[in-house]
Formats: sequence, structure tokens, C-alpha cells
Amino acid sequence: MIASNRQNGRHTMQVIALISQKGGVGKSTLAVHLATEACAQGQRVLLLDLDPQGSAMEWANRRGDRPPDVSGANPASVAKEIEQAKGDGFDLVVIDTAPHADHAALQAARAADLIAIPCRPSTFDIAAISATLDLCKLANKQAVVVLNAAPIRSRVTAEAVEAIVEKGGKVSPVVVYQRVAFQHCMIDGRTAAEFEPDGAAGHEITSLLADLQPGKQVSAKPGKPASRRKVA
Ligand SMILES: Nc1ncnc2c1ncn2[C@@H]1O[C@H](COP(=O)(O)OP(=O)(O)OP(=O)(O)O)[C@@H](O)[C@H]1O
Ligand SMILES: [Mg+2]
Repeated sequence: MIASNRQNGRHTMQVIALISQKGGVGKSTLAVHLATEACAQGQRVLLLDLDPQGSAMEWANRRGDRPPDVSGANPASVAKEIEQAKGDGFDLVVIDTAPHADHAALQAARAADLIAIPCRPSTFDIAAISATLDLCKLANKQAVVVLNAAPIRSRVTAEAVEAIVEKGGKVSPVVVYQRVAFQHCMIDGRTAAEFEPDGAAGHEITSLLADLQPGKQVSAKPGKPASRRKVA
């Protein structure tokens, strides 16, 4: 559990950007979940929605006043927004980005400390991942692929890890599985953990946030489901 980010007595802020040139892979789903989980752990979190579709903003509107703070932003002003967040004492900024938007995604990548690339373990999604990996290289930022919406107990996950590593990607050992809790919760501005307390979906997000902490080494091996007690 991370209550606040302090190094040598100084406050540090982490910026995680969810980027994928492919649509529908789970950028917004993971962005709202990671941001809310970090809040639940005591961090001050700002979720920046850079996508004109405004999925995270819509979720925040349904959520009302409950944290995290969510703000729409123009990709051109993302660096300024992050400076301001630092000045305002935030511990973490999570950036949700649009698909098919090279320039905007590059601006988000440059502003981030770490890029998380959600990817479904499907042939089409894996085939499309090189474009996003190239973009992260161009920004010269550390990137980790997060397998999302993976079918439970299927070898496609292990096969996906192999294919992504072959393309030069690093894969998080934490796999987020296909769970209806991730879909149901969005309807009224909740998270999967709020929809189903102590459910597997919530545990996966806790593990993923821990894996995305600064300095944490990521391995190329897939993990097991965080919990099999409840399969939604
Ligand atoms: N782990 C999961 N389990 C079940 N459903 C999921 C999961 N992750 C995402 N989804 C569902 O997949 C759909 C796409 O997810 P999401 O909107 O987060 O993707 P996105 O990458 O932000 O899409 P876009 O590129 O359009 O912004 C949504 O209906 C969402 O509820
Ligand atoms: Mg989205």
C-alpha cells in the first residue's frame, strides 16, 4: 500500500499514461480503475482525459463527487497540466488517451514516467502493437504491455506474451481477465472493486497498480489470476 510518494523527504509525483493506437483495448477501463485504486490507497490522484470521446469524463460525471479528480485536457497542454498537478501536490497523474491519434499519443507519452499499453490477447491486437511500441521508443519512455480482457484459463494469454516479447515489448506479469464486473461497474460511475467488493477484478487492479510503481522491474512472464475465488 502506497500512502504518499516521498523520496529523500521530497515529494515526487508519478505520471502513468495508458496508450494504445488500437481502439477498445481497455485504456479508459484501466485508467479509471488504476486512478481510483491509488486513491483508495491514500494517494492524491488526478485522472487526465485526453480523449475527445471523453469516456473517463462521462464516467466521472456519473460518479459525482467521489475521487479521483478527473479533468479533460487538450494533448497540447498536457505538460502544463502535469506541472500544475505537481504544484498542487498530487501524488499520481493517470492519463487516458485516444486511439488512432499519433501526435496526441506522443505528447502523452513524452509527459509520462511510465506508459502502460493495454492489449487484448488476440491476433489483431497483437499485430497492431508495434505501432504503439514504436511510439514509446520515439518518446524514449519505459513501456509495459498489460494483457487485458484475457479469457480465463486459456493458453492464448501465454501465446500472446510470447508474441509481444518477440516484437520487443515488455509484458506485465499481472494479467487483467475478461470479467463482467469491469463492464457493469461503469454504468453508474463505480469501479469493479466497488461493484463487487473483494472480487477478482479488484484484486487484479491492486496487483497491476503495484506492478506499475516506479523502479519496479517487470518480467516477461504472464501471471496467474490474482484470485479465482469469484469469477465474474
Ligand atoms: N478486463 C475487461 N473485462 C471485461 N470487459 C472489459 C475489460 N476491459 C475493457 N472491457 C470492455 O471493453 C470495452 C472497451 O474498453 P475501453 O473503453 O476501456 O477501451 P479503450 O481502449 O478506452 O477504447 P477507445 O480506444 O475507444 O478509447 C468496454 O465495453 C469495456 O467495458
Ligand atoms: Mg477510451
